[in-house]
Amino acid sequence: MSAAQNLCVLGATGSIGLNTLDVAARHPQRFRIFALSANERMDELAQLCLRHRPRYAVVAQAAQADTLARRLAPGLTEVLVGQQGLEHIAAHAQTDCVMAAIVGAAGLVPTLAAARAGKKLLLANKEALVMAGPIFMEAVRTHHATLLPIDSEHNAVFQCLPDSFAGDLRGHGVRRVLLTASGGPFRDVALERLRHVTPDEACAHPNWTMGRKISVDSATMMNKALEIIEAHWLFGAAPEQIEVVVHPQSVVHSMVEYADGSVIAQLGNPDMRTPIAHALAYPERIEAGVGALDLFRIGRLDFTAPDFTRFPALRLGYRALREGGTSPATLNAANEIAVAAFLQGRLPFLAITAVIEAVMDALPPHQLASLDDVLGADAAARRQAERQLETMTVKP
Ligand SMILES: NC(=O)c1ccc[n+]([C@@H]2O[C@H](COP(=O)([O-])OP(=O)(O)OC[C@H]3O[C@@H](n4cnc5c(N)ncnc54)[C@H](OP(=O)(O)O)[C@@H]3O)[C@@H](O)[C@H]2O)c1
Repeated sequence: MSAAQNLCVLGATGSIGLNTLDVAARHPQRFRIFALSANERMDELAQLCLRHRPRYAVVAQAAQADTLARRLAPGLTEVLVGQQGLEHIAAHAQTDCVMAAIVGAAGLVPTLAAARAGKKLLLANKEALVMAGPIFMEAVRTHHATLLPIDSEHNAVFQCLPDSFAGDLRGHGVRRVLLTASGGPFRDVALERLRHVTPDEACAHPNWTMGRKISVDSATMMNKALEIIEAHWLFGAAPEQIEVVVHPQSVVHSMVEYADGSVIAQLGNPDMRTPIAHALAYPERIEAGVGALDLFRIGRLDFTAPDFTRFPALRLGYRALREGGTSPATLNAANEIAVAAFLQGRLPFLAITAVIEAVMDALPPHQLASLDDVLGADAAARRQAERQLETMTVKP
């Protein structure tokens, strides 16, 4: 086997970051932990540095850097700060593979830096692609980056496509991409009851253990809306080719339907280490620590159509995709502000999508030609969402 790959994990302290390190640690001959980053969880980052001995660690603030450096063995790990530090490790000449697992828009710039440096790029940070789709995909093509999806649905679609697939469904006889969705914790909860759900209830996902932002996105089904846009950019699928199928067991991770009527699905236990291991080792297969799928215990697999009235976020996802330009960045930024307000107890659950729709209505989309356009649209949508919140916020 060739030399170990240097792995850079952006967002190492999060759910995807920790799962990535778990898989990589099972294969020390294949992967060396080269760089790690975190934002707030400094104790966890210090523990990870002591365990994995990376060449670099990146933190958000200079004060954190000093504290972290004092806890680590001198000369072993260099501690860098902020966006510049993140871009440095993502594009570093010795970095072979980047796991992009920062949550939200904060991941865009370093993830794009990895694409522009032509890295093997494992994309969990779907928000980056949603915000900057055309710019991001252009960077991947121009700089010959290898882009591998980590979202279980997109990783499944990727596995169901032919080996010759090179970023565009045309010419492969694909009729539809079927993205499965668990429906989240509120799939069967009465709409009236949703007025009063708490952040902890929204974060208690029935099948997956995830960070709090994506857990709320799953509860509103905004996560699926973002994934519709992500599928468009990853696979060159037209909006009408992408369909959402509610599948409560989360065993079928997604499907591809071909012109001859064949439907190819990827199945597995709901454990993110499967797509992570698939992408880390691609095109080989490695042990991920995931148990065998027990179909006898599962017994049945159910599929239903999504309820667009109950989950208006889905409608907003298709709308943003069809509008194009800055619309997906607006959708994403408004969602991040609304979800943060919900998690802080400032906004009722059902108002999340109402805030997003109001922001989209207020900010007509314009063309995306550069990263500055994306960042400008993101900032404008955040300001508009804050204004919107003032009219909808729950006063304590
Ligand atoms: N979890 C899943 O099963 C799953 C599945 C598919 C896709 N994804 C996607 O993967 C990404 C990560 O999700 P997650 O569930 O792992 O989230 P998470 O558990 O909340 O972890 C987020 C990571 O990003 C870091 N971070 C947060 N804000 C940051 C900022 N402003 N600047 C730099 N770093 C920042 C966090 O650092 P601290 O912890 O130190 O604050 C943490 O390391 C998201 O885009 C999500 O949509 C997740």
